[in-house]
Amino acid sequence: MIKLSAVDKMTSEQKYKYMLILLEGQLSSEKNNIANLCNATAIIKAIMDRVNWAGFYILRDNTLILGMFQGLPACNRVKIGEGVCGAAVTKKEPQLVENVHDFLGHIACDYSTNSEIVIPIIKDDIVYGVLDLDSKEIGRFTKLEQRYLVEFVDILNKYIDWSKV
Ligand code: SME
Repeated sequence: MIKLSAVDKMTSEQKYKYMLILLEGQLSSEKNNIANLCNATAIIKAIMDRVNWAGFYILRDNTLILGMFQGLPACNRVKIGEGVCGAAVTKKEPQLVENVHDFLGHIACDYSTNSEIVIPIIKDDIVYGVLDLDSKEIGRFTKLEQRYLVEFVDILNKYIDWSKV
């Protein structure tokens, strides 16, 4: 059970450590991929403040298809190489975008979004999709968030069979 009153008093780093503990707890106690990925996005939204969208795009037939998420309805499909999500797939590297309006090819699903971070989901050298977070605040995401979100995806990779999502 998430105790949000405790989270309020934590530093960002303490919150993100707690977020990883919550994720590990969820994934180690449930085998269903849908339940686990839904709760993964809910854990991010509950713990990380100033995030207006958090979710997955899953790679199928060279296209990223919208997966489990929290936030407003979003673009259904993103082509590899297009947008911030597509760049994360082709570059196989996290994309930390301080101001999405400066990112050539950014795909705006919600015009109030101003910054974004995308972590590619790579397991055994195969790209399965991305974890995408948006914020209305310019420069919301830093290397601190990137480090913990990469760890978040590492934990997902331990438990999720992405080929069956
Ligand atoms: N902005 C993303 C598209 C997905 S939405 O942010 C949910 C992109 O440029 O790839």
